[in-house]
Amino acid sequence: MAIEIKSPKEIEALRVSSQMAAETLLLVGDNLRVGMKTEEINTLVHEDTIRRGALPSTLNYRGFPKSVCTSINEVVCHGIPGPRVLRDGDILNVDVTTFYGGFHGDTSATFYIGTPSPAALKVTEVARKALEIGIAQVKEGGRIGDIGAAIQEYVEGEGCSVVRDFVGHGIGRRFHEDPQVKHFGKRRTGERMKVGMVFTIEPMVNLGRFEVKIDPKDKWTVTTVDGSLSAQFEHTLVVTKNGCDILTKRDRPLRFSENVATVFA
Ligand code: MF3
Ligand code: CO
Ligand code: CO
Repeated sequence: MAIEIKSPKEIEALRVSSQMAAETLLLVGDNLRVGMKTEEINTLVHEDTIRRGALPSTLNYRGFPKSVCTSINEVVCHGIPGPRVLRDGDILNVDVTTFYGGFHGDTSATFYIGTPSPAALKVTEVARKALEIGIAQVKEGGRIGDIGAAIQEYVEGEGCSVVRDFVGHGIGRRFHEDPQVKHFGKRRTGERMKVGMVFTIEPMVNLGRFEVKIDPKDKWTVTTVDGSLSAQFEHTLVVTKNGCDILTKRDRPLRFSENVATVFA
């Protein structure tokens, strides 16, 4: 499938759904606490999304049973909210996707639950910077492969690894569209970026090896094969002439993630 170029009107609609996802993620940060069940995060995201007149994109998506993904420690992505309790020292990725006005907006972040170990800080801060480095590669005329190459170079230089089996994606009226945005690979490869292309960048960074496996029982939960910690951050963005516009940009720091002063509180 060809990569869609979104019209200015479509981009404004994507900005609305993306900002809803960003605001719901901020709300999650405000409400995290040690001892909380991931099911409670699901309830929070579900109710906040419905209150906005929107729908949680993940609910019933290819059979996914919940309104948000919650991925703890060695869980790479697609963790299913449930009775598991957040413990002091855990890292938690919360991935919110909101459908409103016919368009999806997709964003995620990794949070520190209580006091992080040095290993938890390392993988989380490398993942945070990996997304920034990927975003810095985006501009009209650049190649999609430049994004992954820059991310891989940085992450492996830090002694961590990049997950191969899950990629960023075009997004619009459908949750997952072309192009695939790999977080690894070679420069000067892949499609040329054009103004109006909308896609996510969402590097999953493992502290150990890059290989992952899917839980054979629930068919969703992705974990590192070596049991090492994994972290992820995701934004939805639109390509512009000189760079990009981050549609899921937040208007304040994420509690228990970006605002380091709150991490150890
Ligand atoms: N939000 C995820 C992404 O970034 C996809 C989750 S699909 C689900 O693409 F089915 F697991 F919810
Ligand atoms: Co995504
Ligand atoms: Co997502």
